[in-house]
Amino acid sequence: MDRDDPRTDDLWSTAQAMVAEGKGLLAADESTGTIAKRLASIGADNTEENRRDYREMLFRSEGFERTISGVILFDETLRQRAADGTPLVELLTNAGVIPGIKVDAGAQPLAGAPEETVTEGLDGLRARLTEYRELGARFAKWRAVLHVGDDRPTTYAIDVNAHALARYAALCQEAGLVPIVEPEVLMDGDHDIEACFDATEATLREVFYQLGHQGVALEGMVLKPNMVLSGKSASDRATPEEVAEMTLACFLQTVPAAVPGIAFLSGGQGDEESTLNLDAINRLAIDAGAPWELTFSYGRGLQAAPLRAWGGKRENVAAGQRAFLHRARMVAAARMGAYEPEMEEAS
Ligand code: 13P
Repeated sequence: MDRDDPRTDDLWSTAQAMVAEGKGLLAADESTGTIAKRLASIGADNTEENRRDYREMLFRSEGFERTISGVILFDETLRQRAADGTPLVELLTNAGVIPGIKVDAGAQPLAGAPEETVTEGLDGLRARLTEYRELGARFAKWRAVLHVGDDRPTTYAIDVNAHALARYAALCQEAGLVPIVEPEVLMDGDHDIEACFDATEATLREVFYQLGHQGVALEGMVLKPNMVLSGKSASDRATPEEVAEMTLACFLQTVPAAVPGIAFLSGGQGDEESTLNLDAINRLAIDAGAPWELTFSYGRGLQAAPLRAWGGKRENVAAGQRAFLHRARMVAAARMGAYEPEMEEAS
């Protein structure tokens, strides 16, 4: 990208604000199909009104800007209005929270590679990014998905996904949006932590090769990776200390220091696990010499509790907001390496 373009400074400062000390990102960008599953889990219908009410509840939580720097939205939400007519995006900007937008069109089966996927959505992306910026978005997200097990991920799947991530990131920076670059190595499976380490290392190497090759300015992006974990159904799962060691070892080998921040996804870890692991990573970070901010960009890790507490009922909005603020405080403490399990009871 053009480093003399005045918008470059904006990208740098937005990326830094997204990973500011004590704060992280809320991923509330579930597609209509994914939010359907979340709403079904509490017995609520997947109507536009329910999707709006749920997200409005989160964005009206008093003081959430103290722990949440930005929110990733789905297309529908970026255009939606609250019950009183206020655009939802305005609820965020009025609170000083940065709105972002998911722009990929989802992972599709990759030809010739059984059970692997490539993320689509590049066609027409330049025009969509311009519109999203006009609608108030200041950053974007694109998620690539890699599977572990049975000789996966293949180099083929890593290469095509890394190439697409870099094309997306370059287009974002051209449009004045900070790209969140999300290569997710899934935790599904019974593999050990070494297998996750190898897959994550190979993926990040190729992602940063492609980002460099395609002229993406690393200072104006945020990386959103998986932590290095044992598979979800592994018999002997790694402890938070092992996760922290392996994650930092992997990233120090592959992620350049120019990247301002790494915002982890929760990826289906439970609330306790995603909080303890983030805490352990941050406790180790200084000694390990990590040059980047290490924060969160959690979807399920921030939303499971408020979704349950709300249960789709108007009378539970305050309880849903309390559950959201509590989870956000816990995760934000972990982001500083200052989480203690007793804090779960204290607030
Ligand atoms: P999870 O934290 O639930 O993995 O969601 C984060 C996300 O945005 C995945 O793309």
